[in-house]
Amino acid sequence: MPMLQTTVENGIAVVTIDLPGEPVNKLSTAAGPEFTETLGRLRDDPAVRAVVLISGKPENFIAGADIEEFTRLRTAAEAEALSKHGQDMMNSVAAFPKPIVAAIHGACLGGGLELALACHYRVASDHPKTQLGLPEIQLGILPGAGGCQRLPRLVGARAALDMILAGKTERAAKAYRIGIVDELVPQAILRRVALEAADRVARERPRRRPRGGLTGALLDRNPLGRRLVYRGARAAVLKKTGGHYPAPLAALEVVREGLERGLEAGLALERRRFGELAVTDVSRQLVQIFFATTALKKDDGVPAGTAEPRAVERVGVIGSGFMGSGIAGTAVSQAEVEVRLKDADLERVGRGLAAAAGILDGRLKRRRITKYEHARLTALLSGSADFRGFATSDLVIEAVFEDLAVKRQVVAEVEGLGEASPIFATNTSTIPIGRIAEGARHPERILGMHFFSPVDRMPLLEVIPTAATSPETIATAVKFGRRMGKTVIVVADRPGFWVNRILSPYMNEAGLLLSEGVPIDAIDRTMTRFGFPVGPIALLDEVGLDVAAKAGGVMYEAFGERLRPAPTLAAVLADGRQGRKNGRGFYRYEKGKKTGVDPAVYRLLGVSPGTAVSPHTIEQRLVYLMLNEAAMAVGERVVRTPRDGDIGAIFGIGFPPFRGGPLRMIDALGAAKVVEILRSLENAFGSRFAPARSLAEMAERGGRFYER
Ligand code: 3HC
Repeated sequence: MPMLQTTVENGIAVVTIDLPGEPVNKLSTAAGPEFTETLGRLRDDPAVRAVVLISGKPENFIAGADIEEFTRLRTAAEAEALSKHGQDMMNSVAAFPKPIVAAIHGACLGGGLELALACHYRVASDHPKTQLGLPEIQLGILPGAGGCQRLPRLVGARAALDMILAGKTERAAKAYRIGIVDELVPQAILRRVALEAADRVARERPRRRPRGGLTGALLDRNPLGRRLVYRGARAAVLKKTGGHYPAPLAALEVVREGLERGLEAGLALERRRFGELAVTDVSRQLVQIFFATTALKKDDGVPAGTAEPRAVERVGVIGSGFMGSGIAGTAVSQAEVEVRLKDADLERVGRGLAAAAGILDGRLKRRRITKYEHARLTALLSGSADFRGFATSDLVIEAVFEDLAVKRQVVAEVEGLGEASPIFATNTSTIPIGRIAEGARHPERILGMHFFSPVDRMPLLEVIPTAATSPETIATAVKFGRRMGKTVIVVADRPGFWVNRILSPYMNEAGLLLSEGVPIDAIDRTMTRFGFPVGPIALLDEVGLDVAAKAGGVMYEAFGERLRPAPTLAAVLADGRQGRKNGRGFYRYEKGKKTGVDPAVYRLLGVSPGTAVSPHTIEQRLVYLMLNEAAMAVGERVVRTPRDGDIGAIFGIGFPPFRGGPLRMIDALGAAKVVEILRSLENAFGSRFAPARSLAEMAERGGRFYER
């Protein structure tokens, strides 16, 4: 079946792009000949004066090049040829003798935006689903179909680099403001306006809207100013990537080449660098992560066909502290449901509501939502000091104090609301869900939803069923978590679940290193060089030392010696240091800003900081404990698949994405090698490094977590 359908109205050809049998439009090499043939026909047809490109998909313009195709690329030369093919296609659009207008509704990403940029005019719907961007960097590649050339030419080096180097996606309104889009219209009239624009452009060349103002003129339109822009961009990239990701620097080089030496030179370098990047290990890992997260979007957490998720339109949140208000604010802003927040007294409820509304305020400020949406969403929030309004909730999420008796009390209160009591999710990180559900009348309606803090920003959610939880309850929680914008993994009701389980030995080891006199910044720097966004000690400060100590105690109780917490944490906590939240931790804070390591901590611990332990050893001790724990937890079926484990580690604790996650890392090293290193660490540092049985068995069999 063809992908393109053409109709002609008053001399304007409307080409509808609709890839048969697929939810989104993708550009593949296979589609090339059809494009060329269609364009050729329209060029030669004297009845056609102009062309409108529009999508036949309800919510998608074009999602970009077909990423599946990248996985089949074996050499840089093959990848370069693919890029050349895309560039040629876009060049033929740009050079088309009749005007081509892109009518954009829905995601217009990667190659899709590159196609729109090659067109002569762009009209977009102002619908929230209309998102424009070049996300290639997030796949470890760069825009390879002319995007690194045409975007800077259209909007200037600054704005283009801002989008390309971060792989950022913008809503249509922003795209209009910076000049990517020429006209912004309601979806209902998109087609008509695009037809009118095509007719107009066919008669008179459109004038470009001026953009960028004085700063634009100073920075974007002269070589000296641009040099400043490149320098700033380079420094920002190095700071952000720590040198682990080659794509952003390559993209910067390509944009610069094109602006300083012309389109041809820019395109040549663009396809060469695209070719090199597409076959790097980094890109392979990032592409895997894309497919894993996409697969998780369709995974209801229960075997297909076992249960339908309940519709969730009303949510009750109990506990209006930091977590509760974060959950409430995120539920409103992302899932757009009514949320009722409850706490013991109205004063606390008021504070919680204000914090929840703060999430909406932030989105308004960053222009993620309009003023109208802000008002509409804020109105969905309400609160009370009793259970009024809770009986009609579809889902209740509790985030009260971490205490078994208190949590059970809340379960009883919610069940007391009536026979049709809602699904009950507990946001605990330390108490077994099974214990909370004990004695409940409807244990099948109870499960855990473990959010990470801050809730609106952390992308992961762990959903934790007990043996008694019904498939309907699981499917409902998973689906609602997704509506809240989270990537959801379903994990077993074992202490620490998945994320805190693999984090626990890593944090303990950081504490032990510290008690041996390894400086705080040496530990943290080693791990940020490894690719974590923050080091373990800084993370302790972020999480809160009191919270970490409590979690550490639970893990020790459950797993014994192997997860014995380092004494350092208790000693520092005893000094009243809770981390960032009270402005005192391992680091110092001034007005909420981290200003450096607090040397008083060393005195507190009775150590003098020295660097006798090499960065290599620091890294091995920290990383291999985490790898080992991950393997052990997989052996205990804490996660359903290695995919969930790796995605959980990447999204939950920032495990370096370019390494693919702890389980992919073990596969890359080989289980035998990992066991060998663990054994040598065990000899040197003790039994906590003893290889997990499942890992040792895997090494013996020559097994892997993922098939090749
Ligand atoms: N290539 C291949 N498959 C893609 C795809 C792409 N670019 N974009 C989406 N898909 C597939 C998904 O894998 C999924 O497949 P499945 O149904 O078989 O599992 C299906 O389309 C639906 O996708 P989602 O479930 O993600 O649907 P959503 O509605 O939630 O999201 C989207 C749609 C926003 C388009 C999202 O899929 C997305 O972000 N896609 C990737 C966009 C991207 O990275 N584009 C750049 C590609 S690289 C490029 O263009 C190189 C060029 O410069 C040469």
